[in-house]
Amino acid sequence: MKHMKIRKAVLPVAGLGTRFLPATKASPKEMLPVVDKPLIQYAVEEAVQAGAEVLVFITSRTKRAISDHFDRAYELETELSLRGRKHELELVQGIVPEHVTCVYIRQAEALGLGHAVLCAEPVVGNEPFYVVLADDLIASDTQSPLLQMKAVYEQYGNSVVGVERVAREETSHYGIITPEPAGDRLYRIKHIVEKPKPKDAPSTLGVVGRYLLTPEIFETLHETRKGAGGEIQLTDAIQSLLDRQNVYACEYAGVRYDCGSKLGYLKATVEYGLKHTELGDSFRSYLERIGGELSQMNNK
Ligand code: UTP
Repeated sequence: MKHMKIRKAVLPVAGLGTRFLPATKASPKEMLPVVDKPLIQYAVEEAVQAGAEVLVFITSRTKRAISDHFDRAYELETELSLRGRKHELELVQGIVPEHVTCVYIRQAEALGLGHAVLCAEPVVGNEPFYVVLADDLIASDTQSPLLQMKAVYEQYGNSVVGVERVAREETSHYGIITPEPAGDRLYRIKHIVEKPKPKDAPSTLGVVGRYLLTPEIFETLHETRKGAGGEIQLTDAIQSLLDRQNVYACEYAGVRYDCGSKLGYLKATVEYGLKHTELGDSFRSYLERIGGELSQMNNK
């Protein structure tokens, strides 16, 4: 079946980032680099690769570095070009392809992810769109999560959320779905609840930071009141959407690093460091050496 093309991606970056203080006091957590690229650039690359041509950033006061990162940097470019640093110049100029437009909307108060998404309504309008949370960095050997979710949308024409199996003791950190099997690693959502206690969680399939939403979500977001944590929750709006249309959950293939947490961020840095084309080999030797030293210490 032919469905509307997805041309827009919403990137909410207005959260407070309290888990990463003090690093996030004056600069956004989305600008934390994993090896040599900030988290937000990985998110933008995934969205652009999945067809997004308009990127809608939902920002706040301390996030200026993000708009600067995706803007031209004339002084730096002139300097690099004068010094003949062609490779670095290409890196700086190639951050966003020319056909892609960036739009910035300020979320005056961090009222929750649902509220952040609603702030994008004037730009997104009546079209399906992606939502990408940059702090969930997902490495995949095959297709990115957004491309896997897009394939589901192309089949059914409904909203799709990215899910993964989480540990039962961690359900209170996620939106958790009641699934009805609908295919290979695919579920139709019967119910969705934000941050349930482990004993109340209807499954261990947790929603992660990838969504593909139909525009009707804006109507349900308008009606959504404050929920868990006193925030306007996207999960609650998705639950209301279920009364009107199907919503699917795609258990994507890939490994997720929760870079909003310090440990997740460290793990991502190690894994991406090992895969890096220029650094991978020397970083591996370094890790092997300190791994050896650690096991010697443990054996003493
Ligand atoms: P988180 O739950 O990770 O919250 O938000 P946070 O404030 O960023 O970080 P912690 O928990 O305090 O450390 C999930 C995503 O939703 C965005 C965040 O920027 C993040 O990408 N968000 C959240 C907003 O844009 N606005 C909000 O009001 C809340």
